[in-house]
Amino acid sequence: MSNNPASLDIQASSSHGTGQTPYSAWMQTDALHALQRTVSDHPGEHAWITHVQVSELYWMLIIKEIQTAQACLRADNLREAHRTLRRVVAHHAPLQAIWKSIEWMTPSDLFAMLSCAVAKYGKDTALQGWTYRQMVYLLGIKQSQHLEHFVPQPERLAQLRKVLSEPSLYDDVLAYFSRIGRSVPTSLLERDLSAPYSPSKEIEQIWRDIYADPDKNIELQQLGETLADIAEGFTEWKHRHLMATRRTFGARPAYFGTEGVAWLMPTMNEIPFPELWSARTFIGDPPAVCPHMSKARGA
Ligand code: HEM
Repeated sequence: MSNNPASLDIQASSSHGTGQTPYSAWMQTDALHALQRTVSDHPGEHAWITHVQVSELYWMLIIKEIQTAQACLRADNLREAHRTLRRVVAHHAPLQAIWKSIEWMTPSDLFAMLSCAVAKYGKDTALQGWTYRQMVYLLGIKQSQHLEHFVPQPERLAQLRKVLSEPSLYDDVLAYFSRIGRSVPTSLLERDLSAPYSPSKEIEQIWRDIYADPDKNIELQQLGETLADIAEGFTEWKHRHLMATRRTFGARPAYFGTEGVAWLMPTMNEIPFPELWSARTFIGDPPAVCPHMSKARGA
């Protein structure tokens, strides 16, 4: 056997003779680049498809990370759960950045592509995308009405029904709180997980207590901050999507026949981990007298 590292690499390559290099075999580059199938002759359609497919990949990555974090929480391994959730925060950065690559799009560009897509595949809406919905369910925003879009995809429908009825990331955080002795109401732990989550004063109080004593609760406060980062990343994506819709679609009626922007606006208020936000009204001690007022009085 040769001691030359380069020749060792060639011998060890299991892809030798398969028409692949180790890189192409591992990264599946041939399969990957066969996935962009345009429907129009618009020169920007590759950018559009790439943008959406990259978003799909990141949503799936976020799903996997959240599932890993949930498993860590269930094993009471807060540190590893937190490390995993920091990666989710990091994955939001490229998701926001790639909006740049379709910023050139005018309504004429969008409709040149959409009209061909409708002619080939029928009228579509991104609400038919199961990865985004699975991610949203895992973030705790449980809306069963969106399941209707997956009737033509029975396996995905069953998958989403299952995720809808299982604990979200936030449910696992609350179950963890309960196991470490925080007062989580039993009614909340035993509720129907497929129904929309109703915020509770008791959970808000838990977050207030955690933030009231950061020295004692440093790990839980860090978890809270990371969840806030994730909620912000998710909401920032929705804001960019809304602006892209305004820019390329105007006030046209969309899939449901109602104005697309008007349909999207209420979704901006669907922010994950509600009590983590509402608790902030009570966190920190405001000064007894507003400092600006005392200046005005010449104090
Ligand atoms: C820039 C042009 C775009 C326009 C005009 C547009 C328009 C819309 C509209 C009107 C809706 C509401 C549902 C409907 O009527 O279909 C929607 C939902 C949605 N779109 Fe887009 N969209 C655009 C780009 C994108 C891209 C590039 C993606 C993916 C990367 C995307 C992903 C989604 C998702 C996931 C939803 C569901 C949102 C939710 O449930 O809150 N959209 N879009």
